[in-house]
Amino acid sequence: MGLFTKRQLTGQVDKNSLPRHVAVIMDGNGRWAQKRGLPRSAGHKAGAESFRRLGTYCKKLGIDYLTVYAFSTENWKRPPEEIDGIMQLLRRYLHECIDTMERDGNRLRFLGDLSVLDDDLKELIRETNEISARIEGFQANVCLNYGGRDEIVHAARAFARDCAAGEKRSDALTEEMFSQYLYSNGLPDPELLIRPGGEKRISNYLLWQCAYSEFYFCDTLWPDFDEREFDKALIAYQHRERRFGGVKP
Ligand code: IPE
Ligand code: IPE
Ligand code: MG
Repeated sequence: MGLFTKRQLTGQVDKNSLPRHVAVIMDGNGRWAQKRGLPRSAGHKAGAESFRRLGTYCKKLGIDYLTVYAFSTENWKRPPEEIDGIMQLLRRYLHECIDTMERDGNRLRFLGDLSVLDDDLKELIRETNEISARIEGFQANVCLNYGGRDEIVHAARAFARDCAAGEKRSDALTEEMFSQYLYSNGLPDPELLIRPGGEKRISNYLLWQCAYSEFYFCDTLWPDFDEREFDKALIAYQHRERRFGGVKP
């Protein structure tokens, strides 16, 4: 068959070489709303729908992890009304998950510095963690008050504390050990990172974990990013040759 399998040549997703972990920067909600003369909050609402739809699709395809960027450490620079709207959407989403995740077999995990969130949100997240611990299968990871640099600094501090307590030795630190201090502890690195919305930058997302991820950028705004768009990203990924610094076999 040469370089590509038959499915790849016919422009279909090859179900046998799917990534295990896909990361997405959910960008373009504001512009989606603006184009329709709607407030930015309507864009975030539509973006949340897009996330639900894609989660369902990933689960159906058999992808193990979908990790989405929902709110960055830099997004606090936005107007308070917009931030409140996003937190309100999150509140609604968490209530919905608590009611449905066990029935649907969906696990949920949050990555980021959650300490600054409102107490009720922290409590809802605690409940979803408790339910997730009882479930096996597809997992959605939501990056919230997440920054790649913040994550690395947080990990470095925790490691330094363990050294000071005599539990770890600084010269024994390895990449693998360090990754256990990250918010993403236990997750495989994403094979594919998708950024819809037209921007071609990483915006402080998964800086450590994306060392060898394949990047896929497209202009579609996040609320319009549907199953077909996701298929296109998967097909593009399946045409990449991953070398990890080596040479073609
Ligand atoms: C992404 O969409 C959602 C968050 C950052 C919370 P944006 O709100 O950044 O949308 P644009 O980029 O302004 O269109
Ligand atoms: C990245 O999008 C953060 C999220 C999608 C949550 P931004 O819209 O905040 O990124 P910049 O400002 O364009 O880099
Ligand atoms: Mg944006």
